Amino acid sequence: MKIGVCGTGMVGKSIATKLVALGHDVKMGARSATNEKAAEWAGAVSGDSSQGTFADAADHGEVLFLCVKGEHALAVLESVGADRLSGSVLVDLTNPLDFSNGMPPTLSVCNDDSLGERIQAAYSGARVVKTLNTLNADLMVDPGALADGDHSLFICGDDTAAKATVMTILTEGFGWKDVIDLGGIAQARGLEMWLPLWIRLWGTLGSPSFNLKIVR
Ligand SMILES: NC(=O)c1ccc[n+]([C@@H]2O[C@H](COP(=O)([O-])OP(=O)(O)OC[C@H]3O[C@@H](n4cnc5c(N)ncnc54)[C@H](OP(=O)(O)O)[C@@H]3O)[C@@H](O)[C@H]2O)c1
Repeated sequence: MKIGVCGTGMVGKSIATKLVALGHDVKMGARSATNEKAAEWAGAVSGDSSQGTFADAADHGEVLFLCVKGEHALAVLESVGADRLSGSVLVDLTNPLDFSNGMPPTLSVCNDDSLGERIQAAYSGARVVKTLNTLNADLMVDPGALADGDHSLFICGDDTAAKATVMTILTEGFGWKDVIDLGGIAQARGLEMWLPLWIRLWGTLGSPSFNLKIVR
């Protein structure tokens, strides 16, 4: 499958590397078409890898992973444009973290709204699926590295077919065994509001390698 990945940070690199290893044709997008981190990534992986702008990544992909700083997510999508996003499966991994008052960050949107919903509202033609924002970048694509993969992941979004496409990537591709479909994109509220506790646990446990397991 042709897949675009917007983001050159830990998450973009982790997702893009795994997707190439799975045999997908992946373009990593950044603000600049010659972004150094994207160039380094494209040169290091063996497989179908390329780089471009955020818009180039969106043009390339049937599925587009959004892995950029939450505060700039809407600006990045504005640079891509509504036409390119129309009909696309847009996988939103972002968190609305506000570091303007230092650590720990606060959430710039919460309670009765979320970044996932704002993205869906701004780009009604896109089929937004929120997932993977609740855990560390390394675990996203290698759940088996923790407790033999016996832990939980969440997914939400308004478009059932888009969720099914992403579910296949998560389970058959990344190896997730327990993916819980929470419902529509409004459920992004809970997924994003988990972040303050996640950040506290990171400090307390001294490692980002942990996750939730929903026992039932
Ligand atoms: N790190 C994790 O383990 C983790 C886990 C779960 C969720 N997340 C979420 O995933 C997202 C990505 O996190 P990350 O740690 O990989 O990297 P990050 O540093 O949060 O984001 C890097 C990306 O943001 C873009 N960016 C930065 N400033 C920008 C601006 N002014 N305008 C437009 N784009 C800008 C960068 O663009 P350029 O490429 O052009 O520099 C880069 O592609 C975040 O929303 C984060 O909250 C992270």
